Amino acid sequence: MRWIRKHLLGLEELSAEEITAILDTADAFSEVSRRPRKKVPTLQGKVVVNLFFEPSTRTRTSFGLAARRMSADVIDITRAMSSIQKGETLIDTARNIEAMGIDIVVIRHSAPGAPHLLAKVMDASIVNAGDGCHEHPTQALLDIYTIRQKKGRVEGLTVAIVGDIGHSRAARSTIWGLKKLGARVIVVGPSTLIPKHITRMGVEVCYHFDDILHELDVINLLRVQRERLESSPFPSTREYARLFGMNTARMAKSKDDVMIMAPGPINRGVEITPDVADGKHSVILEQVTNGLAVRMAVLYLVSGKQPDKLKVR
Ligand code: CP
Repeated sequence: MRWIRKHLLGLEELSAEEITAILDTADAFSEVSRRPRKKVPTLQGKVVVNLFFEPSTRTRTSFGLAARRMSADVIDITRAMSSIQKGETLIDTARNIEAMGIDIVVIRHSAPGAPHLLAKVMDASIVNAGDGCHEHPTQALLDIYTIRQKKGRVEGLTVAIVGDIGHSRAARSTIWGLKKLGARVIVVGPSTLIPKHITRMGVEVCYHFDDILHELDVINLLRVQRERLESSPFPSTREYARLFGMNTARMAKSKDDVMIMAPGPINRGVEITPDVADGKHSVILEQVTNGLAVRMAVLYLVSGKQPDKLKVR
């Protein structure tokens, strides 16, 4: 296929063919990460700005490393280091950065739509690294890449996304992506954390985790995003862990080859017990490894290069 998108703003607008093209491109970059010399000249001469206005460990490091491995020049800007602290607007910040001659902006922001705003006012390519509760497309792509790598397919699998669906941008993007590639998706959690109209996205809803464990090929466990909550959506953390946490007893009721995922960061003892997080069914750290290849693929494609022209020397 011919790649025509300048930006990656979300998975809602991507076709199954486009998602597959990103995953296939990531396969080629995954091979680069296994070499003794991990650097390729693919983005030589390009400037990538990482604009992170919310905390991040995985996404910020991964985009930074991905761009450097492709020989781009990389600038890291955080809220604490920027003139936003002095009252500058996001648009003014963006225009000033652009005046220095940049090619790609990777942005994380608490406001849904912030990347879309930048895409309207900047000439650079914009990559959404998480906008409020809206979308986190590269997290979804690395989740789906990991499922495809481990299970050999996405179509026909039954995937549960468990926990704070309402506040999870990763869940929204993952639902869009999985549904487009033909998976069955069930969202699980307390009714207070599941949006009322979520079935419009083509998912099923379940409030009793134990009832469906035997059906699941993949279980994706979300963190409860307390920083986005005004009041507690359940009586206690212990109660949440009892009803929705993944633990040894629930593993025993699950399929022998069930795959345990989490976008991270994880809260051990809440949505997942340490033995499950570190157990043989967990792919949580493999997701992080795959995130690098997926983000290399995204930077490659939004920079105007074609999937079928990829030669990583
Ligand atoms: N999964 C994820 O987005 O992690 P960070 O917040 O650490 O980037």
